[in-house]
Amino acid sequence: MKIALYPGTFDPITKGHLDIIERASHLFDKVIVTVAVNSSKTPMFTTEERMELIRSAVKEIKLKNVSVDAFSGLLVNFARKKKASALIRGLRAVSDFEYEFQMALMNRKQAPTITTVFLMPHEKYTYLNSSIIREVSRLGGDVKDLVPTAVQKLLDQKLKTR
Ligand code: COA
Repeated sequence: MKIALYPGTFDPITKGHLDIIERASHLFDKVIVTVAVNSSKTPMFTTEERMELIRSAVKEIKLKNVSVDAFSGLLVNFARKKKASALIRGLRAVSDFEYEFQMALMNRKQAPTITTVFLMPHEKYTYLNSSIIREVSRLGGDVKDLVPTAVQKLLDQKLKTR
């Protein structure tokens, strides 16, 4: 069975991430979307919220071979534990390349049998990241075409109670 991990902060998941998950789900028997707990970022959403938002987004588009997990520590250790042979990363623009290249090579140095696979999201999502979604939403902008329904709801809820 070919298992892939798709790691990230997902604060929150966007339709760009979901596009990558869908593409990966057609290529691998199983895709585990893994939320980074100890990322250097200070997330707006808790780990549990981020996982639940991913679960609900995946359910909405009816992907059966995708599960959600969380990890801390070294990514390749978690990948080994899950018996994953691939790490999925999205490449949106040339600006992603240097950082992704460095991570892919370091991960390969640590775990030579685990291969990083880069997938390109649909071009309509190439300008997205989670920070811009949080910022536009916080300032009253409309992000409903760019995030799954559950994300929009929780964003509205969080911003109302501020
Ligand atoms: N659509 C929309 N946005 C996307 C995207 C896509 N397809 N692909 C990436 N992004 C965005 C993310 O939302 C994020 O935006 P933000 O900076 O505004 O939050 C940004 O691009 C890149 O982040 P992400 O994909 O979440 O990765 P990350 O850089 O936050 O996470 C880890 C990197 C967690 C995978 C990495 O740090 C890691 O592996 N950490 C574990 C420790 C470890 O093993 N370190 C050694 C690595 S060599």
